[in-house]
Amino acid sequence: MTTLTGLIGYPISHSLSPLIHGYWLEQYNIDCAYKLFTTPPARLRQTMNHMRRKKLKGLNVTVPHKQTVIAYVDEIDATAKNIGAVNTILVEGEKLIGTNTDASGFLASLKEGVGELTPYLENIVVLGAGGATRAVIVALQEAGAKRITLTNRTAARAADLVEEFSQAGGARLGYVEWESREELLKTATLLINTTSLGMHGMERLELSLTNLSTDAAVIDIVYAPLETELLKNARARGCKAVDGLGMLMHQAAFAFAAWHGVMPKVDATLRNKVLATLATRIKEEAAR
Ligand code: ATR
Repeated sequence: MTTLTGLIGYPISHSLSPLIHGYWLEQYNIDCAYKLFTTPPARLRQTMNHMRRKKLKGLNVTVPHKQTVIAYVDEIDATAKNIGAVNTILVEGEKLIGTNTDASGFLASLKEGVGELTPYLENIVVLGAGGATRAVIVALQEAGAKRITLTNRTAARAADLVEEFSQAGGARLGYVEWESREELLKTATLLINTTSLGMHGMERLELSLTNLSTDAAVIDIVYAPLETELLKNARARGCKAVDGLGMLMHQAAFAFAAWHGVMPKVDATLRNKVLATLATRIKEEAAR
């Protein structure tokens, strides 16, 4: 019998998850569907009740439900608790268990891009203090980061994250004002953009990399465009640069593994399929 997985969020019509999961489901010959369940915030309770009745195999959760969905699951695991958000729901008997694969997805992508992580964990600069930043901090702490400095347009959000995540121990956490972000780059071993700046349709990320060592690595969580201005500038300096598509595909891989018991490969064919879809979309949007 065909089983069911899928994604709840709003809006999600442009989600790449059906393509990614569909590719692996076919590759591993698993009789399961992956569907989009468009869920405006006011319908979250109703959708979650519906999902329980449908006897799902699992569910992905995206914006704007990653935090609010916690009220509708029976348990959340330690990773979801640390991040404070759920992006994947597992079904164990009658129970819905919330977990989060964003941190492992981020780490897998970073490792794939830079190789041995140790040299990059000394002095990490993180741009942003939103939902994505939380998963990135958890990932970095797990990886053994030494020092993490946040910088965000709204400094109070960075201050809150520093306070919250300092309690977990591990990395030394701090923040500096957004206006001083270029100064911070002087000692950075790894620079991470977790803001939406540089994404199609969003504002530019204004950041000169003149202060950044050529030994440093740069990772962007933005994947549309794939080669952001930040990554282009990083590569031009000779820095290792990692795009945001890796995190998207690896977080999906961890969810797939949790549901289906097989760790799927993030291979070049999949990456090219995703890139082709993104390119088509950009063309369609430009034609509108
Ligand atoms: P997500 O959950 O995807 O991380 P978010 O919580 O809205 O989304 O966070 C978006 C991040 O991009 C935030 O760090 C945000 O800064 P603020 O906390 O000041 O809002 C950052 N961001 C968005 N637009 C920005 C802009 N024009 N300039 C600087 N930072 C911006």
